[in-house]
Amino acid sequence: MVSGLFRYIETLQGQEPWGSVLDAGVGVNSAEWMTALPTTTRWTAVTAAPGHARQVREAVDARLRLQDRLLVGNWMDPALLEGEVHDVVLADYLIGAVEGFSPYFQEDLLRRLKPMVGRRLYITGLDPYVVGEVPDAAARCVREIGRLRDVCLLLADETPYREFPAEWVRDRLMEAGFRILSAKRFPNRYRARWVDGQLDMAVRRLPKIADRALAEALAGRIEALRAEGHGLAKSGDGLHVGFDYVIAAEPA
Ligand SMILES: C[S@@+](CC[C@H](N)C(=O)[O-])C[C@H]1O[C@@H](n2cnc3c(N)ncnc32)[C@H](O)[C@@H]1O
Repeated sequence: MVSGLFRYIETLQGQEPWGSVLDAGVGVNSAEWMTALPTTTRWTAVTAAPGHARQVREAVDARLRLQDRLLVGNWMDPALLEGEVHDVVLADYLIGAVEGFSPYFQEDLLRRLKPMVGRRLYITGLDPYVVGEVPDAAARCVREIGRLRDVCLLLADETPYREFPAEWVRDRLMEAGFRILSAKRFPNRYRARWVDGQLDMAVRRLPKIADRALAEALAGRIEALRAEGHGLAKSGDGLHVGFDYVIAAEPA
């Protein structure tokens, strides 16, 4: 099923043909969407993670044409797709993931992508969890799930993602030489499946935590939070917390 964010991007694109498209941070969702778009002349996709590339290839291999490319590389490498220009560039939850693959590179990434954008850049992202006082139990639970997940990643020697607010992305885009065409937020509703996905990510890191007593305490907290999250998701028809956003920009 195509996400509401991708549907919105389709409405922004309107009748304009897609042409040559670059998915600058590919995953199964964006790959399945982009490779099914009607008027692309070439699909190029980049991931920094070989595991991601394998999953994407399994999902869309049958649809790929001779001219389509799926590449493993890092935008920190100046030689990656050097000199190429694509009609449409997509950065789908890429800004948040950058911290895990090239820490502190978020602003540089926007400057790095700028000369590659022929006509349109579409960015999707997740607004960071609220800092300080939360509005309700669902918001507190979602924030704690995110923080517990990140704590486990850190203790397992990994770098968690770092999300940036839509306003931050908008302002950095303008500084990088883009004109903003549209910026819109979409309210999130997290289901029990999301609670499990996030907490299972934490559970998988527990064996890598050297202090076994700490790992066991974390395991207990994870399961308590899972029960709380499921309960709140059931009673509230999902956890209504926070926003995703879509920003459309063009070279100024
Ligand atoms: C959260 S995933 C994006 C979600 C994806 N579009 C989907 O459909 O699920 C982030 C992607 O950006 C890639 N990425 C993050 N930082 C990168 C970097 N510095 N260079 C290249 N790719 C990067 C990751 O390897 C991954 O493929």
